[in-house]
Amino acid sequence: MKQRHVKIRKAVIRQLKQGNIKGKTIPFQPIWVRVFHWGFAASLTVLILTGLELHKPASFLALNYGKVFIAHIASAWFASGFMTIRIADALLRQDYSLIPRINDFKRFPKLMAYYFFLRSTPPPSRKYNSGQLLIYFSWVLLFLIASLLGLASYWQGKHLIWVWRLVGGFQVLRWIKFTISIYFMATIPVHIYLSLTEDISRLQAMITGYERKPPPNNS
Ligand code: HEM
Repeated sequence: MKQRHVKIRKAVIRQLKQGNIKGKTIPFQPIWVRVFHWGFAASLTVLILTGLELHKPASFLALNYGKVFIAHIASAWFASGFMTIRIADALLRQDYSLIPRINDFKRFPKLMAYYFFLRSTPPPSRKYNSGQLLIYFSWVLLFLIASLLGLASYWQGKHLIWVWRLVGGFQVLRWIKFTISIYFMATIPVHIYLSLTEDISRLQAMITGYERKPPPNNS
């Protein structure tokens, strides 16, 4: 069979070569944000699971309490280390992308309308949208509070006694840590779901550092 060759105009070939058709890759997530993200995600997962096991040991697992406790303390130090890296990185780069501004929240109703299929496009946002900012910022804040409470309970009244007094005793302290864990467990699946379904190139950026931008809309 005779093959027909389609002749492509030079300008079109140039555009294809420049990546205008496939899209461009641009740097989006610096290395320390990625180190923080995956390190924090892994250590926080171990931290929450071991915390739940310490709170109410699952009979079907029959795990050694002492070992679970060591895993809990170790993952808490790891998670704190990764959080320190992110805070230091934010200070050094003067990066305020995780700090919400009043303006971000003015767009929150429109963002919700988009998530509930009442709008076809999300409202404009900075690096992260108002929903992400709300969740990320609350995570950072709650993690720091839970860490302080954790240290206070670890030192069993030897140090940080003011923390016990401030919250109103050991049982209240335990209850606050438990509630914070539940908040994490309720919001992390939403974060994972949206990361996988919203814009997959953002996930690519969280792994490789680079995001694939779609080609410009010429129509
Ligand atoms: C398989 C699980 C996870 C996936 C696929 C995932 C994915 C992502 C992606 C794609 C982003 C960037 C969002 C964007 O650019 O629009 C992000 C950011 C973020 N994620 Fe996750 N994530 C996961 C688990 C977690 C966990 C367990 C935590 C901890 C609670 C977490 C905390 C964060 C934070 C704090 C940010 C903001 C990063 C920064 O700028 O410092 N993620 N995640």
